[in-house]
This record gives sequence, structure tokens and C-alpha cells, in this order.
Amino acid sequence: MTSDKLAVVVLAAGQGTRFKSAQLKVLHEVAGKSMLDHVLDAAATLAPERIVLVLGPGMEAVAEAARARGGNLHIAIQEQRLGTGDAVASARAALAGYLGPGEAGPEAGPEAGPEAGPEAGGDILVAFGDTPLLTAETLQAMVTARRAPGAPELLCVAFRPDDPAQYGRVVRGPDGTLEKIVEYADASAAEREIGLCNGGMLLGDGAVLMSLVAQLGNDNAKSEYYLTGIFALARAAGHRAGIAEADPDEVMGVNSRAELAVAEALMQVRLRAQVMAEGATLVDPTTVWLSADTVLGRDVTIQPNVYFGPGVTVGDGVEIRAFSHLEGATVAAGAVVGPFARLRPGAVLGAGARVGNFVEIKNATLGAGAKANHLAYLGDAEVGAAANIGAGTIICNYDGLAKHRTEIGEGAFIGSTTALVAPATVGAGATVGAGSTITRDVPAGAVSTARGAQKDREGGAARLRERQRRRRDRSSGGEKKS
Ligand code: UD1
Ligand code: CA
Repeated sequence: MTSDKLAVVVLAAGQGTRFKSAQLKVLHEVAGKSMLDHVLDAAATLAPERIVLVLGPGMEAVAEAARARGGNLHIAIQEQRLGTGDAVASARAALAGYLGPGEAGPEAGPEAGPEAGPEAGGDILVAFGDTPLLTAETLQAMVTARRAPGAPELLCVAFRPDDPAQYGRVVRGPDGTLEKIVEYADASAAEREIGLCNGGMLLGDGAVLMSLVAQLGNDNAKSEYYLTGIFALARAAGHRAGIAEADPDEVMGVNSRAELAVAEALMQVRLRAQVMAEGATLVDPTTVWLSADTVLGRDVTIQPNVYFGPGVTVGDGVEIRAFSHLEGATVAAGAVVGPFARLRPGAVLGAGARVGNFVEIKNATLGAGAKANHLAYLGDAEVGAAANIGAGTIICNYDGLAKHRTEIGEGAFIGSTTALVAPATVGAGATVGAGSTITRDVPAGAVSTARGAQKDREGGAARLRERQRRRRDRSSGGEKKS
């Protein structure tokens, strides 16, 4: 029986030993977002009634971040990493309500998780936390296949990678139906020749799936409880299992840093195509690096070699010139950024603002039409509309202990190589003379200069040179005597 009730189980308790990392594998990022978040986001598009994330002991940081995502996410702990089948089994208590009429089972105590409703049954989809390229469409296609009339009780996702590497192999009977999945370590030479591989996701009736999982053994090359073992058990018990084939670029599993780089490259191709489809021009797409959450408006032009870290939103008609680096920044319509500009988190550019070469902006707002065209650092500041920040202007926002804010009023003009020692205020329309070191407030409309006075001694250069020459001769004469 198919059901509209759906729970998603995401497995992420594995150590990721092949990564050789102090950080948990599924927290490594693709396009500025953790692999786990990619999978959880794709799963969330199905609007499942419940998501169960399986983690190992001591993964509290991951659990916390995951819980912050929202209400229907439950955490299950797999006490020992005994394999993907054991990981699913450890989600059992959190899957109450999906286990069929026999329900709870011995281990479901009061803290077992959600109560079993009157309709004890539903579908369970299992996904792996290390398949960051998974899309909502592929998951939706699985759900659709499962809800079709006469659909099989279990569905596995298979794919044909260019290099089948160490994926589990999908073995089919003479009639083409799924017979079993054999893990690479256990596969015979003939089975290793099979190009059809297990993608890792599976979907099925909760009661059937969990009863098969409970029967898994670990008599295999790795002494692990393989989730993939359920398909042979299903066939033996007369359950119908089917195959949903997916695009290899979607189900690639990331087990090493080399694979992480491959996943990143594939994701970039996808993201570039997306922003171009939405109306941005990428002059040389392969040199533009995007984050999963990058938002570009229409008629945005991105010149070559531009990097977008997480949290960047760019309005319509903006031009980002070559070699700029943006992260956590908001750029309003019509602004021009770069070449060689750096927008750090909290940078907010108003409409038509201009930020030129070698300008760094952090936690600072530039009003509409404000300009900082060359060589400046603006941190913890509010710059008014149409203000002009001269070349070499530095906001000294940090005194070695704390950060302080600076305000520059509308239409103010800051002369070149000015140092503004924060906290500082420059009133609207004021002009600060070039080379100033500003240590107190500049009143609106004032002209303020704070620099050493210039002295001119007529003919002084020749006299200076003469003195220098004498000093040099005296010292070299001294050397000869000794
Ligand atoms: C798994 C499949 C393989 C498939 C491949 C697709 C099994 C036995 N093998 O192999 O058929 O081709 O994925 O990418 O299922 N995990 C736990 N607890 C554990 C072990 C793993 O939660 O005890 C989690 C991992 O964090 C990971 C996922 O399960 O997110 C898959 O585990 P991994 O070790 O990467 O499996 P593969 O060897 O890649
Ligand atoms: Ca894997």
C-alpha cells in the first residue's frame, strides 16, 4: 500500500575516515554550504512530515545546527558505527508512526519520539549525508514513482557513473528486476564489471523497510550491517523492489577530498547555469565561483575571476568587475564593484554606489551613489549618500581592544590618505583635507584639516646635499685610518 505520509531519514553518523579531517565529513562544504545542509534542504522540498537525522555520539554541534533548522527534525543517535543498516535501525524509535500496525517494538520507550498515530504506517525515504548534489527533482521523481499505481514496495536509486569505483553494484535477475545490491568489498570480479551502481537513496513502505532492516546480518567483508542487504532479503520474502535511475551528477557520493573537489566543480556548473538563466551575464563562467545562496538580479554583469562567498545578494544592473571577492554583502541596483574589490560580511552598498580597486569594506553601509574608488578600508561605518571617499582613506576602527563605529554624513568629501580614528563622525557636506588624521568630530559643512604644516626652506636642498657629502667623506676617511 502506498501512502502520502512520508518520513525522511538522513544518515550522517559515519566518521568519513577517507577525508582525514578533524571535522566531520558531512560538514565539509560544497559551494559554501555543508554537504549535510544540501541534503537536508533537498529533503525539505518534499515537505515530509518528519526528518530524522542519524548522528554518532558526540556530534552535538551538528545536532544543534540541525535542530535550529526547524520543528519536524528529530535526531537519532547511532551508538556505534556498525554500518548504514544499523544507522537506519537506530532511527527506529524516532520513526514511530511509520512502522506499521505492529508498531512500537521492544525498544520504543516513553522518550522514543513521536507517538504512533492511529494510522501506524507511511513511507520512509533514506538518504545519505554525503551526496550533496542530490536535487529536489530526483527525490520528487522517486516519490512519484512510489505513489504510482502498482508501484513496488521498495525503490532504490541507481546510476551509471563513468567510473563505478567502489560503489555498491546493482545486480538484476534475468528478467531485469532487482535481485540484490552487492557492496564493492564483497563483489565478485564479474559483479565488479556491472556499471549500474547504488546511489544510496531508497524509498519504501516503512513497515517493510524497517522489518527488513531488523533482519540484516553483518557476515560480510567489512563486518558491517549494510543497508543495501535489504534488497536480497526483500526478494527472498517476496516483496517487490524496483529501481529508479538517476543522473550520475546527482547521486555522486563524496568520500574523499578529491571527490569533494569533483562535487564542487559539478555544483559550480549548476549554479552558473542557474544565475545565467535568471538574467546575469557571466563573461567567463568557468572563472566565477558562486555559493549555493548567491542571489544575482537581472542584467548583472560579472567579469572574469569573481568569487562569491556565502550570503551575497546583488541587485539588478550591477557590474562586478574582475578579481573581486564578495562575502555576506548586499549590493543594490546599479552599483559598480571592482576590479579587485573586497566586500566582507556586513558590506551594504546603496543604489549606484561605486567601490573600486583595492577597496575593502566590512560591516559598513555606503549610501546611494557614494564612492570609494581606490585603495581604502572602510570598517564598522555608515557612509551617507553621495559621499566621496578619497584614495587611501582608512577607518581605524580597532584600537587593539574594541571596534568602534564611524559615521560619514551625506555628501561629505574625505580627502586622500585620511585616517579616521573611530569612533568618528564627519557631518554632512563636510570636507576633510587630504592627509588628515581625524581624531574628533568634524562638524557638518566644515572644512577640517589635521596634518603637519608644510615648511619650505629656499635653497635648502643644495645645503642638505653638501652636509650629507661631508658626513660621508668623514666616515670613509675614518675607515682608512683604522
Ligand atoms: C554506500 C552504499 C553503497 C553506495 C554508496 C553510494 C552501503 C553499505 N553502501 O557506500 O552501496 O553505492 O553509499 O554513495 O550502504 N553512515 C552512518 N553510520 C554508519 C555508516 C555510515 O550514519 O555506521 C552514513 C555516513 O555518514 C554516510 C552514509 O551513511 O553519510 C553512507 O556511508 P558511507 O560509508 O559513505 O558508504 P559508502 O561506502 O559510500
Ligand atoms: Ca559514501
